[in-house]
Amino acid sequence: MNQPLPATPPAIAPESTDKVLLLNATGKVGRNVCRALLEAGFAVYGTTRSANSALASQGVTPVVCNYTLRADLDRAFAESGARKVFVITDFFGAAKKSADLEFQQGRDAIDAAKAAGVDHLVFMSVADAEFFDEHVTHLKAKLALEKYLRESGVPHSILRPCAFFENLDDPANWNPLKKGVVKFLSMQDCKYCATYDIGRAAAIQLKNPEQWMGKTLDVIGWQGDLHQVAAALSKVSGVPVKAKLAMPIFLRRLLLKDLHHMFLYYEVQKGPRGTPQQFKKVLPNALSAEDWFRSHGKYANGERIEPRA
Ligand SMILES: NC(=O)c1ccc[n+]([C@@H]2O[C@H](COP(=O)([O-])OP(=O)(O)OC[C@H]3O[C@@H](n4cnc5c(N)ncnc54)[C@H](OP(=O)(O)O)[C@@H]3O)[C@@H](O)[C@H]2O)c1
Repeated sequence: MNQPLPATPPAIAPESTDKVLLLNATGKVGRNVCRALLEAGFAVYGTTRSANSALASQGVTPVVCNYTLRADLDRAFAESGARKVFVITDFFGAAKKSADLEFQQGRDAIDAAKAAGVDHLVFMSVADAEFFDEHVTHLKAKLALEKYLRESGVPHSILRPCAFFENLDDPANWNPLKKGVVKFLSMQDCKYCATYDIGRAAAIQLKNPEQWMGKTLDVIGWQGDLHQVAAALSKVSGVPVKAKLAMPIFLRRLLLKDLHHMFLYYEVQKGPRGTPQQFKKVLPNALSAEDWFRSHGKYANGERIEPRA
């Protein structure tokens, strides 16, 4: 007698039907977190205020929503049906450089998640938020939101990224990546991560809630000074690369007091305390500087970073 044929495995793994709502999906972090969550098999819903966003072409279901407004958030949860959410708040953009406003916006996101019965909220905070001095106002809301989240009763985990590699190509903040030179606000040893790895870490937490619920993970992919960053780009591009300060330190101190004090924590106190080795226990192939330049693939003017033959 013929044995019944084994059932055809579903084209999509069961967990791939898990929906994740991503707040601020079109930002520098959001678009790479979208990519990582899609690759991990999640159905990704991304908030944007624009009805014509590029999210759909990326495979993300756009949810028209201003992620800083409570009513919009309630609608986004209802519309997506998502019970998992990735929460980003943004001091410089949406919160208009007000830590109080950033806190209110994050609190609304946590409250909306609670009302929607979310089973896992991943909050993007910042590494060592508790250790920066009082001048580093742009990180203050992150710590207050971590506390609010812990006390909210919403099932959650927290990601604490360090400096993004994306800062090395940031035309909006006057630091476009140009051939043959790499600039940053410090020449000294820094810890970096790719925003894509924030997304990959989020996917790991969302897929392993029993391991990660209530826990915090520092996202730190690589460590090196600016000469080592330049050497990495030189290796990837095949072009000699100079390392330069984006502005002299005295101007950094005068014009960017908040960021200057953040860099002092990196430079003087050698923070953040976590290491790439610790993060790689969770994500073994976390991107290095070389990996990041290779995957970024272009200079700010659109010219390709041609990989060395
Ligand atoms: N840079 C670093 O090294 C670093 C390190 C650790 C943590 N962080 C954190 O990363 C976060 C910044 O994320 P990001 O860089 O991805 O943000 P971003 O790129 O500045 O986000 C831009 C998006 O925000 C939305 N937006 C802008 N203004 C808005 C407003 N007034 N109301 C509502 N939405 C608005 C827009 O989306 P739509 O137009 O589509 O709605 C826009 O596409 C901050 O919390 C920062 O602390 C940064």
